Amino acid sequence: MFNLELSETHQMIRDTARQFAQDEIAPSTIERDKNGEFPTDIIKKLGELGFMGMMVSPDWGGSGLDALSYVLAMEEISAVDASVGVVMSVNNSLVNWGLDTYGTDQQKEKFLTPLAQGLVHGAFCLSEPEAGSDATQQTTTAEQVDGGWVLNGTKNWITNGTTASTYLVMAQTNRELKHKGITCFIIDRNTPGFEPGLKEDKMGIRSSDTCSIGLTNVFVPNENILGGVGMGFKIAMESLNGGRIGIAAQALGIAKGASEAAIRYSTQRKAFGKPISDLQAIQLKLADMATKVEAARLLVYRAAWMKDQHLNYIKAAAQAKLMASKVAVDVALEAIQTHGGYGYVREYLVERYLRDAKITEIYEGTSEIQHIVIARELLKEL
Ligand code: CAA
Repeated sequence: MFNLELSETHQMIRDTARQFAQDEIAPSTIERDKNGEFPTDIIKKLGELGFMGMMVSPDWGGSGLDALSYVLAMEEISAVDASVGVVMSVNNSLVNWGLDTYGTDQQKEKFLTPLAQGLVHGAFCLSEPEAGSDATQQTTTAEQVDGGWVLNGTKNWITNGTTASTYLVMAQTNRELKHKGITCFIIDRNTPGFEPGLKEDKMGIRSSDTCSIGLTNVFVPNENILGGVGMGFKIAMESLNGGRIGIAAQALGIAKGASEAAIRYSTQRKAFGKPISDLQAIQLKLADMATKVEAARLLVYRAAWMKDQHLNYIKAAAQAKLMASKVAVDVALEAIQTHGGYGYVREYLVERYLRDAKITEIYEGTSEIQHIVIARELLKEL
């Protein structure tokens, strides 16, 4: 039975994340959003706090916490700055998880430990120019040579792409086997032929970096295959199940941040001789926003709880992401409306919430893909 009671550890993690976000992230959020500047120092400090390897065992440099702790931290960090949230999420959910679950001890020692300690961060390379939602259609190839493989192709929309040190790259090792012929390679950034492109100029999460990556005759030794030849698509899909919980928590944080900004503003702004929070038209908005945030929160915490209980959480994760991302966009829009003209200018925070919210309906599986995942799981339950 789903139990929402937070333990003392959970509460401490939430409070620590909230304080850190206020003290260390908030002061530079607006400036970094404007300049598109990567939060290098903040990520380093998040590493010191143990937030870059939250669910990894202390044996491999992590904090050994559960998924619920992770979403609590993600929510608080993203409520202040969703760009910082996504750097943390990709590292924890899409890179650490795969290495922790499928890595050999040597791979964990070499790659996972520095990632979990936050000394470096990672990127996950599945999407391609012609393979986004239809992820089985990988065209990046890996040809076997003496001692390893040679990769050629292009990856797109890679979060942390220009700043990461360790990349998990999916490539086709046997086209005839279709998705069962996809393999996951661990690639060090400095490998010859591995070339991150220019940072994309994005609408939102502007302080995080996203780029395409070219691979030209990139040699990867056999020992850098993760989970075995042909395991890449399975690793990618399983990683994304957990990743969707992380992005759902990011979206929840955005919605919480926007809703709280609207509540605060409504008590300060006066119209018709009183604070606008006294007006029923505004109260309706505040009540709707808060209710949507709570509904999203229940789904997000439940998905994390199911993961922690080792239950099948594929549907729960997709539902959490579908709902929380929609709530983030809806609430950000209403928060702008509550601010009136002030909501439409950069000086006030709420327009950034909307720009940041939109991507949560797109990356780590669009809302349309979440519908497919949910429907397929429902039909399996028959
Ligand atoms: N969990 C585990 N396994 C899954 C799965 C899931 N959620 N979804 C599919 N699979 C498995 C299936 O069981 C099947 O395995 P078997 O053949 O062994 O049975 C295999 O994957 C292929 O599945 P389908 O036959 O259902 O393939 P499909 O082409 O009909 O559908 C899809 C696959 C669900 C649409 C999948 O392509 C998908 O999830 N697409 C979205 C990809 C995505 O989320 N991309 C985001 C990239 S990361 C990112 O955003 C960048 C970033 O840096 C943040």
